[in-house]
Amino acid sequence: MEERLLEIRDLKTYYEAGYKSVKAVDGIDLEIQKKEAVGLVGESGSGKSTVAWSIMGLAPATGRILGGQILFHGKDLLEIREDEMRRIRGKEIAMIFQNPMSFLNPVMKVRNQIAEALEMHESLGKEEINQKVVELLKKTQISSPERVADYYPHQLSGGMQQRVLISLAISCSPQLLIADEPTTALDATIQLGIMDLLRTLKEHENLSLLLITHDLGIVADLCDRLYVMYSGKILEYGNVYSVFENPSHPYTAMLLSSTLSIDEYKKTLAFIPGSVPDMTQPPKGCRFHPRCPHAKTVCSNHEPPNKQIDKDHWASCWLLDR
Ligand SMILES: Nc1ncnc2c1ncn2[C@@H]1O[C@H](COP(=O)(O)OP(=O)(O)OP(=O)(O)O)[C@@H](O)[C@H]1O
Ligand code: SF4
Ligand SMILES: [Mg+2]
Repeated sequence: MEERLLEIRDLKTYYEAGYKSVKAVDGIDLEIQKKEAVGLVGESGSGKSTVAWSIMGLAPATGRILGGQILFHGKDLLEIREDEMRRIRGKEIAMIFQNPMSFLNPVMKVRNQIAEALEMHESLGKEEINQKVVELLKKTQISSPERVADYYPHQLSGGMQQRVLISLAISCSPQLLIADEPTTALDATIQLGIMDLLRTLKEHENLSLLLITHDLGIVADLCDRLYVMYSGKILEYGNVYSVFENPSHPYTAMLLSSTLSIDEYKKTLAFIPGSVPDMTQPPKGCRFHPRCPHAKTVCSNHEPPNKQIDKDHWASCWLLDR
């Protein structure tokens, strides 16, 4: 039976920018079940990383969560105290990023960085910690883990740095791992290795995964469900098979504009003419209407309702309102 791990309801996260505010996340709903991999896709600037930072409780200083709920095991993370959030962060929810070097300490050996993370959440003896460090490096499929533990991050390749960051992230057995473009900066073959690792971890470590990516091939390959984000809103979501086989929002259909089936899908987001709107003044009605080839009068005045397409598949578009 499915069991809900995370439920986001009507989340709004804005950034202050002078006299204006950037409506980066503007009322989204998103769910992740236990042991599920969920993809979050959309063009640059659509608000994906802001969703991730909001869940972690680490939005940049100019960011404000103005409304909604982020329920983790039914508890609203927006209502708890910072010390409880600090415990959850790392121990229950962890995150990895595009540039591991920005999050690894350049002057600290790999062993000490992982040990430090372990000590923060667990009381273990020195020997146990050393053993656990090596075990964690092994879990991320690093060969010669004993040797790598004594390296500094700059002595490692980009792919190895990402594996070390993953070791750090899983050091306290989190239930949710958020991966924000974890392979964008890596070569294709190294990307495949990291994706393979994430799949193995999901299967063997009881992990749920929120995978933010531009690469629809990765979503097809790894994710159970998918959310398509545009200009601070979710336009379509549901079971990966259903969304890929029957994309129902014009934006998703354009992203997937290819005759390939889900098994053959090996493309990053397709190019869609026009650009993501100014998020300080998003378009009225359907946010996609200035770029949509099917736009009607109603689209520029009223926000479209959410329509059910299939058992686990929904989209928001006036074309579906028949
Ligand atoms: N610290 C900030 N201050 C002001 N605006 C910001 C800040 N961070 C992000 N934004 C703006 O918020 C919007 C959403 O940004 P976000 O980084 O969440 O998008 P994204 O989907 O992750 O993009 P990408 O694919 O490029 O990583 C964009 O318009 C961006 O310019
Ligand atoms: S609501 Fe209208 S503008 Fe928006 S995607 Fe549907 S047809 Fe296009
Ligand atoms: Mg981002």
